[in-house]
Amino acid sequence: MSAVLTRRFADRQTAVRALAAEFQELIEARNQAGQSTVLGLATGSTPIPFYQELVRLHRQQGLSFARVITFNLDEYGGLPPDHPESYWHFMQQHLFQHIDIDPQNIHLPSGTVAEAEIDQHCAAYEDAIRAAGGIDYQILGIGRTGHIGFNEPPSRGDSRTRRVELDEITRGDAAPAFGGLEAVPSWAITMGVGTILDARRIALMAFGEAKADIVRRAIEEPVNDRVTASFLQTHPMAQFLLDPEAASALTR
Ligand code: PGA
Repeated sequence: MSAVLTRRFADRQTAVRALAAEFQELIEARNQAGQSTVLGLATGSTPIPFYQELVRLHRQQGLSFARVITFNLDEYGGLPPDHPESYWHFMQQHLFQHIDIDPQNIHLPSGTVAEAEIDQHCAAYEDAIRAAGGIDYQILGIGRTGHIGFNEPPSRGDSRTRRVELDEITRGDAAPAFGGLEAVPSWAITMGVGTILDARRIALMAFGEAKADIVRRAIEEPVNDRVTASFLQTHPMAQFLLDPEAASALTR
């Protein structure tokens, strides 16, 4: 039986408020001690209301991100930062341009690194996470393939930051945003499952009925490399935050 903490909320707004309050508590404690906070961040539609809540806490309660260091999970292959669908652009739009983060503290993998330099770029990303002291709190969404980051099935539990080919289900889900399947990149650079599991705390958010079946598999199936989110069962401080629809297929 899985040990992963599963929390069901009345709706997604209540869920993201609870998570943002945990982030606020962590960041404020570190700020008071004069220490940095290292956050692992995610993209996609799921975390948007979470980022809106962080921005609200910054504006209305003075939550400062001046000592926060961020590492994003992944970036699409071939997309420059200013591409409207790049994750760099997403993060600026939904979070970074609204808070007091130091641009030097923001890290995402590059989608435009030369082919011959990808391995070195990925190793440097791992080094930068380690040099920052490791990730204190990592947020995740879950793809319909069960991916966390872009760790498509099969991905090993000890995988590290690397180039991955995107699953056709993932590309199909992204097609409307790109104006058609042909425009969706075929590959990405992603933190590995092992990179993610190194974070001291992890929260996976899943909302809506389309995630119900894969959430059930991630929580109730034995840990397996076909549903990479199932590896969260092995983490001592991981939680799933669900709305009633995403929780609707759980059997216990
Ligand atoms: P979504 O994507 O938040 O847009 O549903 C989740 C993911 O693929 O991780």
